[in-house]
Amino acid sequence: MKVLVIGSGGREHAICWSISQNKSIEKLYCAPGNAGISEIAEIVDIKSENLTDLLYFAMDKKIDLTIVGPEKPLSLGVVDLFRKNGMLIFGPNQYCSQLESSKEFSKLFMKRNNIPTANFKSFTDFDSARKYLESNLLPVVVKADGLASGKGVKVCFSYDEAVEFLKFLMKDKIFSESGEKVVIEDFLEGEEASFFVFTDGKKILLLDSSQDHKRLLNNDLGPNTGGMGAYSPAPIVDLQTKENIVNEIIKPVFDGFKKDSINYTGILYIGLMIKDRKPKVVEFNCRFGDPEAQPLLYRLRSDAFELFYRTAKKDLKNYKLEWKNTYSVTVVLASKGYPSRPEIGGTISNLANFVEPGVKIFHAGTTLKDNAYHISGGRILGVTSQGKTLEDAIDLAYKAISQIDTSNLIYRTDIGSKGLLKNS
Ligand code: AMP
Ligand code: GLY
Repeated sequence: MKVLVIGSGGREHAICWSISQNKSIEKLYCAPGNAGISEIAEIVDIKSENLTDLLYFAMDKKIDLTIVGPEKPLSLGVVDLFRKNGMLIFGPNQYCSQLESSKEFSKLFMKRNNIPTANFKSFTDFDSARKYLESNLLPVVVKADGLASGKGVKVCFSYDEAVEFLKFLMKDKIFSESGEKVVIEDFLEGEEASFFVFTDGKKILLLDSSQDHKRLLNNDLGPNTGGMGAYSPAPIVDLQTKENIVNEIIKPVFDGFKKDSINYTGILYIGLMIKDRKPKVVEFNCRFGDPEAQPLLYRLRSDAFELFYRTAKKDLKNYKLEWKNTYSVTVVLASKGYPSRPEIGGTISNLANFVEPGVKIFHAGTTLKDNAYHISGGRILGVTSQGKTLEDAIDLAYKAISQIDTSNLIYRTDIGSKGLLKNS
């Protein structure tokens, strides 16, 4: 089997690492990849958004399966393009991926199908949006309709703050056309968790729970980021909460797909706000979470390649999802200045010989030059550990970090501790 993975983050390193355990993989490519991925796959110098070159490459190399990591190529229609040319690809098509690439599309879908979520209104006109804010309770959440790498959403605690963000999106057009339309929604109280399902359009497989840490600083303070760490399973998703997620969200979502003749295949990422075991949807994404993919794939016992391959082939019928009876934690090491102005260019001096049983380091923004790992992005490494208890996994991840040169890196020191409070 020849496989191409599209993307360059920790999520794609975890995907490459997990599928490469399968002996039937004779060749693994990753475009554009990173330094860590280059140790297990051949790096291809094509950007994730360059769909035509990706297709030509896949056809030329006779790729058996292409796996799409990030949202951007999905929203540009990479799945439609590959399928039209007879190539097997993992992920939803462009129409379905609007569940992530348009907040309005996703909120209207939820409204039509009675899926619990925050009340909202959408606007294309600045003055009407500003007027609506006058009558809204605080806090209020202002969102760019389109993709904005996680930066198009602001929870606003005053009218002035909300209007300022609105201007930023609609007048300054900081995210260009992504902010031409905005969604303004009520603030949801509770604790966030991530829930993922794989589906081949017929069968739905529920992954174990996980929880991301979106804020930059300890105790969930500071600005929102792509994610500073994650762990799995997440005790906030206890049995009752999981049952509520299935009955109140997943079932109506898939009934809604049927009603609208939507054939969704790939991963559906449900971002949840949970209060008193009642889940509400904050957002849908159409791909694996980053960093959540890392602890989840590290805990996966069943064959990861088969999971992706059979989902794409619409053949999940006899696939059995199995998990190791462990906890896994990923602590993200980011470059100084992340998320607003990441400092690029420094090196991580002692990474090459790192070995620690029960720990795997997934790379994100790294490049290998003159035998040294260089910092080339915002999030750099995802130090991922596994232990019998959550406490063991946390201790092991931070023990591993203490052996890494972090002089050019920043990280949170409380990843997973929310789960410890729930377990005690
Ligand atoms: P989104 O891109 O829609 O997931 O929003 C990014 C982040 O903003 C979420 O992970 C939440 O932390 C926060 N957020 C978004 N919508 C809401 C809401 N309605 N209530 C509270 N927090 C929200
Ligand atoms: N971990 C958040 C995301 O992948 O969007």
